[in-house]
Amino acid sequence: SRLSRLTRSTSRDRDMDMDMDTATYDLLVVNGVVVTDQAIAELDVAVKDGVVVKFAPRGALKDASAKRTIDAEGGYVMPGGVDAHVHLEEPALFGKGSSADTYETGSRSAICGGTTTLITFAPQTKDQDTLMDTLHMTHAKAVGNCYTDYSFHLIVANPSARALSEFPSLRAAGISSLKIYMTYAALQLADDQILDVLLEARRNQITTMIHAENGQVIEWMTKQLEQRKMFAPKHHATSHPPMAEMEATYRAICLSTFIDVPILIVHVSSPAAAAHIRQAQEKGLPVYAETCPQYLFLTREDLDKPGFEGAKCVCSPPPREASDHEAIWEGLRNGTFTVLSSDHCPFLYDNNETGKKSCITDEFPVGHFKYVPNGCPGVETRLALAMSEAKLELKNFVTVTSTNAAKLYGVYPKKGALLEGVSDADMVIWYPPGKMAEFELKNEMLHHNVDYTPYEGRSMKQWPRYTILRGEVVWDRDGGGLVGGKGGKFLERGPSTLKGSVNKEEWDVRRW
Ligand code: URP
Ligand code: ZN
Ligand code: ZN
Repeated sequence: SRLSRLTRSTSRDRDMDMDMDTATYDLLVVNGVVVTDQAIAELDVAVKDGVVVKFAPRGALKDASAKRTIDAEGGYVMPGGVDAHVHLEEPALFGKGSSADTYETGSRSAICGGTTTLITFAPQTKDQDTLMDTLHMTHAKAVGNCYTDYSFHLIVANPSARALSEFPSLRAAGISSLKIYMTYAALQLADDQILDVLLEARRNQITTMIHAENGQVIEWMTKQLEQRKMFAPKHHATSHPPMAEMEATYRAICLSTFIDVPILIVHVSSPAAAAHIRQAQEKGLPVYAETCPQYLFLTREDLDKPGFEGAKCVCSPPPREASDHEAIWEGLRNGTFTVLSSDHCPFLYDNNETGKKSCITDEFPVGHFKYVPNGCPGVETRLALAMSEAKLELKNFVTVTSTNAAKLYGVYPKKGALLEGVSDADMVIWYPPGKMAEFELKNEMLHHNVDYTPYEGRSMKQWPRYTILRGEVVWDRDGGGLVGGKGGKFLERGPSTLKGSVNKEEWDVRRW
């Protein structure tokens, strides 16, 4: 094809082709303010072969040749977002259907919102006793379909002897994290099973993510509500009290401390749970935590919207009180929360077969909260919501939306950083102050495969102007929108590099 390009081109085109071939760099990003977790500086960035190869003081590369130059016009240039909590093509845990986004549509949505790396879930079911089959099946869904780079966390629903024996194979296959659940009948593990997983995770330097809600408390509360015929979506929040989250969080901390292994508590919503996490961290324990935009921007009142609209915000744990939001922001500022992920778990709303409305049946003509598929879309809005709200200092923003996830899940500094000669050239470039008109978010602007966003009508002050994956511009908001293709690659991951993550000694019952 290169030959046909030359034979068909004019001599001027040929000169340009030659220039392109001999260009020193593939891409220059000039006039930006580079922000990483470590520093903020006015630097120009040069990219070659998909990697950041050089930083130079503003203007110093003006005579360098490049195939493409982007003028950031004073906007922030950050490492691309790393979203380590995304559900794609997963079966619903309740009711029918599966999450609405495929690997193609979910990763497309991510890249248009500034996220360049996704870690999604490979869900084992209780009737499977192997994890490797689950991993292979998930690979088959993702390969060739992703706009972002990607990896998977294995969901362990059945820690059988065989599944536990496969942990070394997972590591050999580049997987260094798991998720387990303390709730949901289809996934819930008993405490002895959690200990089995944690011990094997410790031996293999695998990070265990824990969904910490007490499943029995939720079931008991659900029965109490059913006896009173309280079926509306808002009772989803009543059935998941903060106590159920706090108790399970504390239990997860106790179990992991007993095994002396790092954990990450996912999607923390309640300040009471966060306080236990903080206390553990103050003792020096390797307890990490995640929160999500739904616990910063939504409240339980949103579940009580007229009609059946409240179902749009049904997720677990549920959004809490508006008065809780400040404590969650503070947790992002003070390090209690290691990462801000989306927990993108999208279900259609207006669909009686597979969507949120599928819980409206002959038996429950006004719906029943316990059958509403749990989860909200948010992979595209995660960065822009937090950036628009401007409650995080810039380096802190990069730390929780990109760098820490890369470290915790073993892809740093290839991802989550902009280090010369080391990091992939994954970047999100924001509008300079005053350049982007504030706008009202509408679902039709988004690129997911979902018929709503819980953030409809929100005023947005920022949105990614460009997203760059390994030096290729994939999202250019003013120049065609989605301009790149499905060039995402699987990322082989190593162990966490966050503090306390490596413990090679054999665990021994005699210690206790
Ligand atoms: O409601 C939620 N969060 N759905 C996704 C499944 C999970 O537990 O993360
Ligand atoms: Zn969960
Ligand atoms: Zn989730």
